Amino acid sequence: MEYVLLEKDGNVSTITINNPKALNALSTAVLKDLEEAVNTVAADDDTYAVIITGAGPKSFVAGADIAEMKDKNQEEAAEYGAYGNKIFRQIETMDKPVIAAINGFALGGGNELAMSCDIRLAADNAVFGQPEVGLGITPGFGGTQRLARIVPVGIAKEIIYGGRNIKADKALQIGLVNAVYPQEELMNAAMKLAKGIAKNAPKAVAASKRAINKGLEGTMDEGIAIEVDEFSNCFNTEDQTYGMEYFLDKNKEKPAKQ
Ligand code: CAA
Repeated sequence: MEYVLLEKDGNVSTITINNPKALNALSTAVLKDLEEAVNTVAADDDTYAVIITGAGPKSFVAGADIAEMKDKNQEEAAEYGAYGNKIFRQIETMDKPVIAAINGFALGGGNELAMSCDIRLAADNAVFGQPEVGLGITPGFGGTQRLARIVPVGIAKEIIYGGRNIKADKALQIGLVNAVYPQEELMNAAMKLAKGIAKNAPKAVAASKRAINKGLEGTMDEGIAIEVDEFSNCFNTEDQTYGMEYFLDKNKEKPAKQ
């Protein structure tokens, strides 16, 4: 892959978007590599948590590639939008927890990529925004949908209609990110969080992700039914059998995860 680095540290895989000439903007070529990386980690049984970040000190992802988009016609724009959305939905629905480590500009498609992740951690130099209306378009990789689900709808509308960027402290205040770290500490913090999650039963973490995400799409009763299903399915796993046995008998050797 030319535009994405894929590394593994224990049970944590890190995907790094690497398109330095354009502050890691998402051209079709970058999206193709991102899709390949996402499919690779999704299929890797030894990856229990994933980090997505951007290469370099300045930018997570500065958005969709404006130079590539400029001359698209309506049909081509629909294709491009659908392709980006397909990959981001794969990230959102993959059976593994995904942490965005936002190391600078997260604008347009960059903020949209971060929002498709389960948890967002930011460096103190991070800048967030949906500047699309200034370019004469709407957000195109899920921004109108996810931002309004993550932060209060009035705040989402202010950010999208205004096309004004916000800094990391404001992003923390509105709940767009979980935490802000000094730039040099961001990746360690992301790795620590990922490794902490990866210590737990991966099937139970994946089931929790499905229950939360699917539950948010329906009524409380539908959500509870999904949880009962996921909860009871865990009782077919060795993680449950040994996890509970281990809790009750500390002398037992802790088994490897399923
Ligand atoms: N697409 C293409 N190229 C981009 C880019 C983008 N989104 N963002 C930055 N670049 C390029 C610049 O054109 C520049 O290239 P050259 O060196 O060849 O001139 C290079 O990256 C460095 O950028 P700047 O010189 O502009 O750097 P800066 O520090 O002065 O500014 C910035 C940084 C504020 C992020 C500015 O680059 C910027 O505003 N970028 C565009 C951000 C944006 O509008 N993103 C939304 C895109 S639309 C979208 O994402 C739609 C969607 O939802 C799918």
